[in-house]
Amino acid sequence: MLQTVPNFYGKSFLCEKDFSKEEFVYLIDLAMKLKDEKKQGIPHRYLEGKNIALLFEKPSTRTRCAFTVACVDLGAHPEYLGKDDIQLGKKESIEDTAKVLGRMFDGIEFRGFEHKKVEMLAEHSGVPVWNGLTDLWHPTQTLADFLTVKENFGRLEGIKFVYVGDGRNNVANSLLVGGALVGMDVRIVAPETLFPAPEVVEMAKNLAEKSGGRVTVTADVEEGVAGADVIYTDVWVSMGEEDKFAERIALLSPYQVTMDLVNQTGNKNMIFLHCLPAFHDQETTYGKDIFANHGLAEMEVTDEVFRSEHSMVFDQAENRMHTIKAVMAATLGHIE
Ligand code: CP
Ligand code: NVA
Repeated sequence: MLQTVPNFYGKSFLCEKDFSKEEFVYLIDLAMKLKDEKKQGIPHRYLEGKNIALLFEKPSTRTRCAFTVACVDLGAHPEYLGKDDIQLGKKESIEDTAKVLGRMFDGIEFRGFEHKKVEMLAEHSGVPVWNGLTDLWHPTQTLADFLTVKENFGRLEGIKFVYVGDGRNNVANSLLVGGALVGMDVRIVAPETLFPAPEVVEMAKNLAEKSGGRVTVTADVEEGVAGADVIYTDVWVSMGEEDKFAERIALLSPYQVTMDLVNQTGNKNMIFLHCLPAFHDQETTYGKDIFANHGLAEMEVTDEVFRSEHSMVFDQAENRMHTIKAVMAATLGHIE
């Protein structure tokens, strides 16, 4: 299955556009192999004795757990450093922190706000840096999403991959560029005020020209979801934007993923994906507040769709671990 091994050694993983189609697909196939090995109990300790720093300025369930378990499976030691644990940018510059961490750790994961910070860590640490989400990109999520697509459809090229919702957040940016990179028919369906930035659309269009993919950005739900293989959505309000609930609810309510929208695809075999966490019921504090203050019982996806046979969201969540493992093994291990 795995053909030639690209030379990833020592490389950082910051955003999709830094990789070729072949490299990106290689990481997905490597994750598939590592997933299979894990299920069979075959060890794959490519990072024996390495030390990995996990920097989190924003909270996380999946990304933190995926990096932690992947480190342990690979034989490495993960060290979690939360926003109040180190001086990152507060009392010590990013540059100095990067230089210190690079003297002690073999690899660094970073989740935070400005994308510039993860770039600076990569520039100054001298070790591979992996982006666990910034305001601009969420590339390890894209790998897990595409692994889930490959598991369900056996291919990525030509897949009609439709993202519905906040079209200019980190996940939408990553899926648009990542989908174009691997040759998907990728569509962003969003209100015009939440269209992706022109430079992101331009980047995706250039990649699609090379890969044979297609890029569409539209506000028209009916046009956008027609024939979809994948319907994907994300929260309407991302981390750091918590003052925007009222405005986003007004803008995005017509873009909620309902069973009617799923039926509009006309594809019985379509799958529903969501990076999670999701607001599909009132079993969260936010969910209860939204219902109390805005009268909305569900947000970006209805509970019916979330729990339907189309929904692959927990396979997708599990795949975070296998794909993150592939990224760490490929950039810091020696894969034969
Ligand atoms: N999808 C995702 O990144 O989840 P976490 O925020 O829980 O890491
Ligand atoms: N767009 C979301 C993704 C969470 C995984 C956020 O940034 O909060």
